[in-house]
Amino acid sequence: MKYEIIVLAAGQGKRMKAGRNKQFLTIQNVPLIIHTLQKFEQDPWCSGIVLVVNEKEVEIFEELLIEYPIQKVQSLTVGGDERQHSVYNGLKSLKQAQMVLIHDGARPFVQQNTIHELVEKAASDKAAVLAVPVKDTIKRVEQGTVIETVERSSLWAIQTPQAFLFDVVMNAHEKAKTNEYLGTDDASLVERAGQKVSIVEGNYDNIKLTTPEDLLYAEAILTKLTRTE
Ligand code: CTP
Ligand code: MG
Repeated sequence: MKYEIIVLAAGQGKRMKAGRNKQFLTIQNVPLIIHTLQKFEQDPWCSGIVLVVNEKEVEIFEELLIEYPIQKVQSLTVGGDERQHSVYNGLKSLKQAQMVLIHDGARPFVQQNTIHELVEKAASDKAAVLAVPVKDTIKRVEQGTVIETVERSSLWAIQTPQAFLFDVVMNAHEKAKTNEYLGTDDASLVERAGQKVSIVEGNYDNIKLTTPEDLLYAEAILTKLTRTE
């Protein structure tokens, strides 16, 4: 089953503290964003990639794509100040799509069988996200005091890709724009629009490189994955 994917790379990577966009940091000598794009370049179900970048970095990405050609990236789309705005720009630049996936450029380790499971779920349920059970105990805290311990068995950590029928996610973004709602992921917009979102159990390897120590984990995960592939 075919899909188009929006890959987000227009952030600043502030928490990574690398002094530049974390997408350019290397894992085993290959830039993070290239690892991510190669996953979809290699997936026969993926028919096109919309790569969303900061307008100041368009040329850097163009040069990178000359060094590491990714055929499915046909053009670059300029992102916005918030992740949600970057996604919206990506959605607007998709010409024809039935099934659309939205993915963080900073998550290079998603596996093809997991992507396919997700796409099949979204085809039947209209909206589906990858998630893993939360390992830590989570408490609600206010001003340094525990208010509540949340029942862990119902808590899931949500990842990307997230997969939607195009109309469902586009309508949800338009609605959020009208209501000036800013969510931390795309599914939250879809939920607010009244659409049920299904979960597909993913993998703990599918980390989002966020803080400096994640680079060490990433090297280790890549070593493990290349050994078992
Ligand atoms: N992203 C984007 N446009 C934005 C903000 C984020 O395309 N305005 C992308 C990032 O490039 C990243 C993904 O969304 O691939 C997830 O965001 P996050 O991990 O928060 O990355 P950054 O925003 O770059 O990092 P930070 O929040 O630490 O600055
Ligand atoms: Mg961010």
